[in-house]
Amino acid sequence: MSSANSTKMGSFSEKMGQIEDSATLSVMGKVKGLIAQGVDIINLTAGEPDFSPPQCVNDAAIKAVQNGMGRYTPSAGLIELRDIVAKSIRNEIGIEYQAENVVVCNGAKIAIVQALMAILNDGDEVLIPFPCWTSYPEMVKLAGGVPVMVACDENMLPDMSALDAACNKRTVAILINTPSNPTGVVFPKDFTRELGEWCLAKGLRIISDEMYCALTYNGIEHHSPLKLVPELQKTSAWIGGMSKSFAMTGWRMGFFAGPKDWAAIVGRIQSQLAGSPNAIAQQASMAGLSHGMAEREAMRLEFEKRSKLIAAGIDAIEGISCPEPQGAFYCFVDISSLIGLTDESGITINSGDDFSKVLLEVDKVATIGGSAFGATNHFRISFAASETELERALEKLSSRVSTLLTSGKN
Ligand SMILES: Cc1ncc(COP(=O)(O)O)c(C=O)c1O
Repeated sequence: MSSANSTKMGSFSEKMGQIEDSATLSVMGKVKGLIAQGVDIINLTAGEPDFSPPQCVNDAAIKAVQNGMGRYTPSAGLIELRDIVAKSIRNEIGIEYQAENVVVCNGAKIAIVQALMAILNDGDEVLIPFPCWTSYPEMVKLAGGVPVMVACDENMLPDMSALDAACNKRTVAILINTPSNPTGVVFPKDFTRELGEWCLAKGLRIISDEMYCALTYNGIEHHSPLKLVPELQKTSAWIGGMSKSFAMTGWRMGFFAGPKDWAAIVGRIQSQLAGSPNAIAQQASMAGLSHGMAEREAMRLEFEKRSKLIAAGIDAIEGISCPEPQGAFYCFVDISSLIGLTDESGITINSGDDFSKVLLEVDKVATIGGSAFGATNHFRISFAASETELERALEKLSSRVSTLLTSGKN
């Protein structure tokens, strides 16, 4: 064998070499490892509820196993589940989907990747307002596209004039997320309509990630651009799933919903990539969507209490600030006024990542530094943790900030 061939045998895809590891999952993994070794850490990294799924979900899964239902299903998912998902989107979001518009996927993450694979040709551009969920740019790259990152405005909403400037003839889609991970911001109704109308005028598809749509607080309502600008339903896609609002992260159930032609291609891609979605989790999801709404609401109310606790706690700490979480279960904290300070830990705060590092190493409070979401001077707190843990974390956070402000030198 020639040396040229042996070099080829040892090499990997250049395209895949550009894909970053999920920053949030890697920090969460490290923190879970430290906790397993017995280190006492308050873990506020989690992008997952600390609750159990509704009882009917667990019961349905056990019954499905006992009844031998763990076989392949149709590749786009069981028609009964697709029907229930369509009905729930009709009732809760107001978009007139039928079963044929829906593809059940093994998590919303792969639903988004498959949606992108279905529409992108090499080099096509996708607008991504940031701060954003860490996976979006990598997903676009995985699907052969080019992510175009566009900074949000001071209210953490997509900046319309910046989007306008970034849009060109190679732009085919925009990836948006409301309620937002990591900012907790919910797009207001008028803004959502304006954004939808702009996309329609520009001929852009929207992939509207509404994963946290059932988790909004204090009377704030969720709005979908696909409902407010119905014409978009012909070309745009809606993404949701069971992970966050039903506490089913590990069950891997996400939903693509969109025009029938797009759904058919997503189904075909899935038939080759996954074969079919998890059969047992599909039975459990049908039970959850049909009978688990009261427990879903109980979890939302619990998150709402925590959102108030964490917002009030941060508000009381001079030197840091965050927009009040309106949805999802994250608080995105601005630490700009601590930049340049160094305290006894010896770490100089040059970014939200540095601050998050001090919190972990010195105070044993785990959070996610803002660079994972494209924001330098922020860090993310997940309030998917008990009130006791949140209170303990707030105390430590408060004393860390006051130490930095009083004794920190720059
Ligand atoms: C905004 C957003 N979309 C989608 C997902 C993916 O969810 P799933 O667990 O269904 O893959 C997440 C998970 O963190 C998320 O935060």
